[in-house]
Amino acid sequence: MSVLVCITGRNNEKLMAKLQDALPDVELKLWPHCDDLESVKFVLAWKAPQELWQKLPNLKVVQSFGAGVDGIPMSILPSGTVVARIIDPQLSDDMAEYVLSHALAHKLRHQNYCAEQAKKNWKPRRARKGVTAGVLGLGELGKAVAQRLSDNGFTVRGWSRSAKQLDDIACYYGEAQLASFASGLDYLVCLLPLTDSTHGVLNRQLFQNVSNDCLLINVARGQHLNEQDLIDALNEQELGGAVLDVFTTEPLPEKHVFWSHPKVTVTPHIAAVTNLDTVVAQIAGNIRACFTGAPIKNGVDVTQGY
Ligand code: NAP
Ligand code: GLV
Repeated sequence: MSVLVCITGRNNEKLMAKLQDALPDVELKLWPHCDDLESVKFVLAWKAPQELWQKLPNLKVVQSFGAGVDGIPMSILPSGTVVARIIDPQLSDDMAEYVLSHALAHKLRHQNYCAEQAKKNWKPRRARKGVTAGVLGLGELGKAVAQRLSDNGFTVRGWSRSAKQLDDIACYYGEAQLASFASGLDYLVCLLPLTDSTHGVLNRQLFQNVSNDCLLINVARGQHLNEQDLIDALNEQELGGAVLDVFTTEPLPEKHVFWSHPKVTVTPHIAAVTNLDTVVAQIAGNIRACFTGAPIKNGVDVTQGY
């Protein structure tokens, strides 16, 4: 059996060295340097090219190098393939910190003061009053974000696919409760997985339910957002601002309107970055489990796509 690491768009030297240290007896191959794809049973993947998946007839496990699994085309994998993702308290903590920092910056009007500093024009204003925040997705990351916001004085709602009960969070679920969840929100955070059902969920109809001063924070995937709807909603004062960490096209194209829109803050997909020091052990554990037939940890439901 062989193990293939197929992670594009980053330097994998440190990862390969750490994985090899954890698995000294395992031969690890790094895409595209693998001439025997038929023997591959385990793939560690991130932004793997589509052509790879058709060439792995004996695949047993695909491990995502991140929390999201939307880059793995589950419907075309050999039947019974297990798909696993990263679950890491450090990742949840980083995400909670990112969202809280941007929510507080909006509340305290930091961006306005930066703009005023550039113009040498001083206009003191009180902090924004609205503190009702809604988190779309109450999974590993969404729950951590909801809790962090609640611990810091926000009144928090959450929305998920199935019904939940969480301390301090008003829980909503399903399509039928989406409008009540969104009604009057001052902060709207997206932490949904990207699936057929969540594609385009951040749209004008949803924006028309939240408050006119609401800050949208999209830290999930670019395809959750209808970009034109966001621009229209911002320009027509239906939303107060947007913090975007993810985009339909990454890196964000140089000519994109988001770079210079006065109500938009962009960051380069860094809200919660997979940390080698904390995740190598769980990836190595799943590789060993694949060898021995032990259960794979942090598997997703391939029928739901997350
Ligand atoms: P997760 O643990 O799989 O949780 C997903 C949540 O979304 C669950 O609460 C689920 O509901 C809910 N959900 C799924 N489909 C839904 C639907 N159709 N309607 C309503 N709710 C739905 O995911 P996670 O680990 O929290 O991560 C979320 C996403 O964050 C990832 O998929 C990834 O795209 C993104 N991410 C971004 C970064 C970054 O740096 N920007 C870093 C890591 C991850 P149930 O609880 O009812 O199943
Ligand atoms: C990053 O976007 C992840 O899914 O881990």
